[in-house]
Amino acid sequence: MAILRTRIDSGGEAFRQNRQAYETHRAAVAAAREKSLAAGGEKAIALHHSRGKLTARERVSRLLDPGTPFLEIGQLAGHEVYDDPVASAGMVAGLGMVTGRLVSIVANDATVKGGTYYPLTVKKHIRAQQIARENKLASVYLVDSGGAFLPLQDDLFPDEHHFGSIFRSIAEMSAMGLPQVAAVMGQCTAGGAYIPAMSDETVIVRDTGTIYLGGPQLVQAATGEVVDAQRLGGAEVHTRHSAVADHHAIDDQHCLMLVREILSRRPASAPPAPPQRPEPPLYDPAELVGIVPANPREPIPAREVLARILDGSRLLEYRERWGQSIVCGTGAINGWPVGVLVNDGVLFSESAQKAANFIEICSQRDIPLLFLHNISGFMVGEEYEAGGIARHGAKMVNAVSCSRVPKFSVLIGGSYGAGNFAMCGRAFGPRLMAMWPNARTSVMGGEQAATVLTLVREAQLAKQGRAMTAGEAEAFKAPIREAYETRSHPVHAAARLWVDAVIDPADTRPWLTLGLASAAASPSQETRFGVFRM
Ligand code: COA
Repeated sequence: MAILRTRIDSGGEAFRQNRQAYETHRAAVAAAREKSLAAGGEKAIALHHSRGKLTARERVSRLLDPGTPFLEIGQLAGHEVYDDPVASAGMVAGLGMVTGRLVSIVANDATVKGGTYYPLTVKKHIRAQQIARENKLASVYLVDSGGAFLPLQDDLFPDEHHFGSIFRSIAEMSAMGLPQVAAVMGQCTAGGAYIPAMSDETVIVRDTGTIYLGGPQLVQAATGEVVDAQRLGGAEVHTRHSAVADHHAIDDQHCLMLVREILSRRPASAPPAPPQRPEPPLYDPAELVGIVPANPREPIPAREVLARILDGSRLLEYRERWGQSIVCGTGAINGWPVGVLVNDGVLFSESAQKAANFIEICSQRDIPLLFLHNISGFMVGEEYEAGGIARHGAKMVNAVSCSRVPKFSVLIGGSYGAGNFAMCGRAFGPRLMAMWPNARTSVMGGEQAATVLTLVREAQLAKQGRAMTAGEAEAFKAPIREAYETRSHPVHAAARLWVDAVIDPADTRPWLTLGLASAAASPSQETRFGVFRM
């Protein structure tokens, strides 16, 4: 296995400039992160505390085993998507260790619009459930939610991937034998009430927890009955009369302790130890930010990245001398073996075939796949079309689609067009997907899109015997470029849950380690590929 040696001078001027340029990307993400972490704001948090309740983040941190990491999903979800600020889409979600077991956690944030479900809150809850399903994990729902955010009901209620699928998933996951524990830590109305009602086992907190399908106002409007929240659906009702809840907690802290105890009854399912001895790379991952070129049009040197991500900077490269615009090979991350694919130029027919073959090999040997996107797309032009690039590219997309080993995607640079598909973009089911702050993703680059649309416009005008001046063409292009820049940004992507997280390059190894460890706990599935177009 070859050791990757760096050719970068980490004390040089280019390195310094790259680092400086990266800082701008990092700062843009940090600003969005700060708003997400502010939850519903100081006033709402103070009110929440005055009711004797812990915030969603406080609940999660007290649920977790002390000192263990939390792999957060969708922290930037909802950022600047709706008219209201909806920090983290009103929900904290992720994977963490509870009594030595890796579990999926979903916690409603009642300081954000009463913890109601916006369309992205629904998407985030479903995403957390999907991660639990794929990795065969137990789930904890810390519920404190007014149910559907009513003004947007048509965007979150009636369709296939809307609110109902959360409840369908709870039932299906239970049937799969995946434990789901709900903790009622606030007023849980309508949809909020179905989560504890559908879960296997439910804890409710005295005085603050309520479960009801319709709140006191609705009951009065519907039947004329006047009843207060606790009498309608408090802990006394549900642990003594209805049996909708199974355990009675005196406060949030006690409730979290009971959830931990319930989970500890399950046979230990701590992630297994990695099969190889973990080892740091020879080169510091903190140097990655100096390797990402300040000019986004310059490619990121693939092997320099791998030298700072893989254990011992070691890579057993597959077909090193052929199809060189993609680097494929096996290595390890903190002792977990991975088959890694990283772009080193546009995808040609040879690179696509090589990647498809490599994916086939890893799938047969049960080696998880890691895709590091740095791709403008497949090569275009007469020669390449005649050479069947569409057919060869399709082989790679087929392999990525059908492979059943755990797949992970990290966008380290651009991820454009069909290149995104071939490199296991969101639609291809990576177990986890992240973006570096400098990365961008869209159907094509802004400049290319502006040029394509200008050419289309010019052709239309030519039919009318008119032409665009250079000034008009530029005025036409500028807003297209700008829209692409905004909408391909990691904050825009993460706000819509196109990716699970935006991570700093130096955090890539620990982030992937937790992902690989959680995937290792679930039995692998057999891969059956479709017809490869030879
Ligand atoms: N849809 C839209 N907005 C809602 C909402 C809902 N279901 N429930 C609450 N909100 C909004 C409130 O208008 C308020 O907005 P504002 O901050 O802009 O004023 C914010 O969420 C917080 O609500 P508030 O009532 O002030 O907070 P609370 O902590 O005292 O109570 C609830 C929170 C959720 C318990 C309470 O608002 C409630 O019972 N809401 C109705 C829930 C319901 O009937 N849902 C049915 C869904 S099918």
